[in-house]
Amino acid sequence: MKLWAGRFSKEADERVNDFNSSIRFDSRMFREDIQGSLAHAAMLAGQGILSQEDEAAIAQGLEGILQDLESGKLAFDPDAEDIHMFIEAQLTSRIGQAGKRLHTARSRNDQVALDLRLYLRRELGEVEALLKGLISELCGQAAKYADTVMPGYTHLQRAQPITFGHHLMAYAWMFRRDLLRLRDAAGRMDSMPLGAGALAGTTYPIDRWQTAKALGFSEPCPNSLDGVSDRDYCIELASAFSILMMHLSRLAEEVVAWCSWEFKFIELDDAFATGSSIMPQKKNPDVAELVRGKAGRVYGDLMALLTMMKGLPLAYNKDMQEDKEAIFDGVDTVKLCLSTFTPMLATMTVLKDNMRAAAAKGFINATDCADYLVKKGMPFRDAYKLTGGLVAQCVREGRTLETLPLAEYQKASPLFQEDLYTAISLDTCVQGRTSYGGPAPASVLRQVGQMRAFLQELGD
Ligand code: ARG
Repeated sequence: MKLWAGRFSKEADERVNDFNSSIRFDSRMFREDIQGSLAHAAMLAGQGILSQEDEAAIAQGLEGILQDLESGKLAFDPDAEDIHMFIEAQLTSRIGQAGKRLHTARSRNDQVALDLRLYLRRELGEVEALLKGLISELCGQAAKYADTVMPGYTHLQRAQPITFGHHLMAYAWMFRRDLLRLRDAAGRMDSMPLGAGALAGTTYPIDRWQTAKALGFSEPCPNSLDGVSDRDYCIELASAFSILMMHLSRLAEEVVAWCSWEFKFIELDDAFATGSSIMPQKKNPDVAELVRGKAGRVYGDLMALLTMMKGLPLAYNKDMQEDKEAIFDGVDTVKLCLSTFTPMLATMTVLKDNMRAAAAKGFINATDCADYLVKKGMPFRDAYKLTGGLVAQCVREGRTLETLPLAEYQKASPLFQEDLYTAISLDTCVQGRTSYGGPAPASVLRQVGQMRAFLQELGD
């Protein structure tokens, strides 16, 4: 029998029941639902709306339900409409009359808005811990490979020499912004919906500040309609998750490339790679590929939320029940990806010699050759053109800038002297890039220091 049987003359069609029910996905908020109910009952009692005895019975009943759900003694009823109805029905079956008083001055609309915020707040703590783990892994590897020379690319063409540490730190800065974006969004969901009622507040003398404080929010939502209708926080989080997944996916793509025979810059640990069912030689970077693929599903979650909300009039509409599967999928996917990706990075082998060999090809010191002429007084544009001619000559003759004889250089310009070879050596090119934020080992170590200070400041 439905709670609202009084108004209805017929049972709901079984198909409607199943269609309407959200318990198969909202049951994961049972802790938050109970937490919210405990705070609500305490506030009602504090305001004299509920007797102390009823409140005590409700609190005891709810604690019992929590224990039994945690231990698995109590199973969710798949026929319940949602987690809120399920817990209320359980409570009433356990404690009788008092259970029926819990829903005074409350609606499932403010209840679900509260539960979702509480749930996401807790999950965000976990995402943040995983992100910190990733950033700190990147810092560790960057410090280790602060002076490991590799080619830097634009258009996937070898461009200028950088260090592997510098490349990894680029990602650390992206993930730092992702972390801050999530914190920022969490700050904006720091108001408490309970007491907004179905949409129009209540005539009971409730104290919303008390429940807000008890539940760890800085204030009650200041507008009851907004309080039950706002799903901005889901959209903001899904958007921050999407950006994070985009970053992770770019790094994943690089890992895939670096593992290939064409690059061979890294080798993944056997425990973080997979084989082929037919090709015995294969070692595939499945983890990185899956992370890259899963970015798409998180973008999908964001689109689902945006589209679901776009035409909804105030206040609550059942469409909004769709928010949970989308945002839960986003949280789950991000957590899953981060918790697999970080150990994959931690266990990879870096093939420094291959990186260096790749850096030695592709004329990535051509800018430095031009800069050499500039330092001797030639305007940059002339030096650029002249060096371009030398590169073309080397390509024709199968040489590199390092192996082109001085006599050939001097045919192009008398400014070239023996010290040119030091100026265009890979080590000079990398060590010399000391401009703030550059790839020189000292700069990489400075970045690692900045990043570690940031992590420390965040605390645990
Ligand atoms: N299961 C619903 C949801 O997830 C709870 C709120 C239902 N409210 C209502 N008036 N039907 O959105």
